[in-house]
Amino acid sequence: MQILEMQQSDLESVTSLAAQLGYPDSLETIKARFAAIGKAEGHRLWVARLPDRGVVGWIHVNRTNQWLIEDPVAEVCSIIVSDSYRREGVGAALLKKAEDWATENGLGIKLYTNAKREKAHRFYEHSGFTLKKVSHVYIKAALKE
Ligand SMILES: CC(C)(COP(=O)(O)OP(=O)(O)OC[C@H]1O[C@@H](n2cnc3c(N)ncnc32)[C@H](O)[C@@H]1OP(=O)(O)O)[C@@H](O)C(=O)NCCC(=O)NCCS
Repeated sequence: MQILEMQQSDLESVTSLAAQLGYPDSLETIKARFAAIGKAEGHRLWVARLPDRGVVGWIHVNRTNQWLIEDPVAEVCSIIVSDSYRREGVGAALLKKAEDWATENGLGIKLYTNAKREKAHRFYEHSGFTLKKVSHVYIKAALKE
């Protein structure tokens, strides 16, 4: 397995995996966001590629902004592994890449995950994360979750 910087040519696979994560955006939308992220500082995107299978997972990590009440950390914005290739160490390899990047940049690492994603919780616990708190998300604008 290779963990590689996400390329424009990966975006079709990335888009279909995003749909598995519950974000069924169009290829055009993902392309536009990818272009914007490429220009923004502090964002990294990697894909997991298996020989003869292509992209089977991806991760997005972002250095958060400085807040008055919190130092910047690396935040895992999203991670997804194809449902055909789970429990084969792909997610762990992607997360390790993000953690190594955080360490190289002197950052701790955190993530938010939906309370209903119980399998992901087991994955994060296995990876050494501990549950810090449970939050409620309030919105006014029409967001997806
Ligand atoms: C969470 C996710 C990324 C994990 O990817 P993965 O490639 O299947 O994970 P790994 O194979 O690297 O798992 C490493 C370890 O985590 C734990 N783990 C992973 N998935 C698990 C599950 N479904 N149930 C229990 N433990 C699990 C296990 O300890 C596993 O080691 P093992 O298989 O040797 O027992 C993947 O299940 C996924 O894409 N889920 C849907 C999307 C999602 O929920 N993303 C997170 C959004 S916050």
